[in-house]
Amino acid sequence: MENKDLYSAKHNAEPLVSIQALNACRILVINGKGGAGKTTISTNLAAWLAHRGERTSLLDADPQGSSNFWVKRRDAELPPVYGIKLDANSRTTNSFQMRAPKSTRWLVTDAPPGLCGPALDDLVRDHDLILVPVMPSDIDIRTSARFIGELLLTQNMRRNRRPLAVVANRAKQQTNAWGRLEKFLLSLNIPYPTTLRDSQNYVRAYSEGRGIVDYPQQSHLRDRNDWETLIRWIDAQNISNAWWKEKLTLTTPPEKGSELA
Ligand SMILES: Nc1ncnc2c1ncn2[C@@H]1O[C@H](COP(=O)(O)OP(=O)(O)O)[C@@H](O)[C@H]1O
Ligand SMILES: [Mg+2]
Repeated sequence: MENKDLYSAKHNAEPLVSIQALNACRILVINGKGGAGKTTISTNLAAWLAHRGERTSLLDADPQGSSNFWVKRRDAELPPVYGIKLDANSRTTNSFQMRAPKSTRWLVTDAPPGLCGPALDDLVRDHDLILVPVMPSDIDIRTSARFIGELLLTQNMRRNRRPLAVVANRAKQQTNAWGRLEKFLLSLNIPYPTTLRDSQNYVRAYSEGRGIVDYPQQSHLRDRNDWETLIRWIDAQNISNAWWKEKLTLTTPPEKGSELA
């Protein structure tokens, strides 16, 4: 049996639910343009969360299907990541396809490039936390600045501001472009909890269906530390609990005299 089949078999017994109904922290990895590192960050994040033993799903919303390719490559012996692919040619609607196993605790969405307007707003609506990868080059900083501005102006962000962070990717610190990126983020008061270095470790990991976390070797220590910092920031947002508690409050009014835990 192929890895993919083995992997699917593990999850098949479980009902799929709309991502809107998940009791999970749903993380959107998005940027206005391609090539900034959305897939690299989505796959590494999913692998890291899966390693913690928490049920993790990776939604590939980019028609290029790069995250889905990674899921298919992933060794069945590694902590599983459930892959969901949106099929642009399907007759079903996107929201029907955006379903994940009910026990998912972390959903990571690899967004398509170039989203704006209502499509961007819809994706924001269905997620609890947003990561924007940015490469510290002048052109990337300019397009990302515009994109972050658009994100902050979506109806759903204005109504309920989700935690948002920039992940500086392929960073060469101490360069002029890096300095400009820092200045820009500080001016918007947007955190950038980690910087990922430009390394072949990422290129190799992608082609092997792995994340940095799947390499215990010393050669990956520095990258693992970069990821630990990002994961700590995500955990500190405490989204899962807050979101679920709010949902419980909305859907099941507590009986008289009882308190929600
Ligand atoms: N930190 C990194 N170090 C080295 N190569 C990287 C890094 N991040 C991304 N890349 C490479 O850059 C290219 C674009 O990254 P990718 O994650 O596919 O971007 P996106 O999904 O935003 O289009 C890929 O070939 C990827 O392997
Ligand atoms: Mg991609």
